Amino acid sequence: DPELVAAGEKVFKKCKACHQVGEGAKNKTGPILNGIVGKAAGSVEGFKYSKALVAKADEGLVWTDETLAEFLAKPKSYIKGTKMSFAGLRKEKDLAAITAYLASLGN
Ligand code: HEM
Repeated sequence: DPELVAAGEKVFKKCKACHQVGEGAKNKTGPILNGIVGKAAGSVEGFKYSKALVAKADEGLVWTDETLAEFLAKPKSYIKGTKMSFAGLRKEKDLAAITAYLASLGN
């Protein structure tokens, strides 16, 4: 849904302080998010994750529309001890939009 993707690109402004996407993206405060949907958590090369996120990754967490929406609604509840300092997205619509946008990005 191109409209949802466009809405998600706007929501992504909230993420840009810490995350880069697209060609030439680099790890910053947060890891590069290209290809994140379908990817194993904690597996962006060269990024130093918190112990909390690594523990979730070791449990087998994979980022899907569902797990991303749960995480992004309340990062610090979904992964206790995460170093992602972001309160979360409150609106269901924003959660659907951000996952659609992230899914639209290539690797
Ligand atoms: C981790 C998405 C906002 C900093 C992550 C991960 C995702 C994500 C999917 C896990 C990546 C992986 O497992 O490889 C988003 C989205 C945001 C957002 C979609 C906006 C809605 C932010 C902001 C900051 C930030 C504003 C900085 C203030 C981080 C950090 C990590 C992280 C430091 C690593 C967490 C850890 O190791 O515990 N983010 N993020 N993020 N993000 Fe964000």
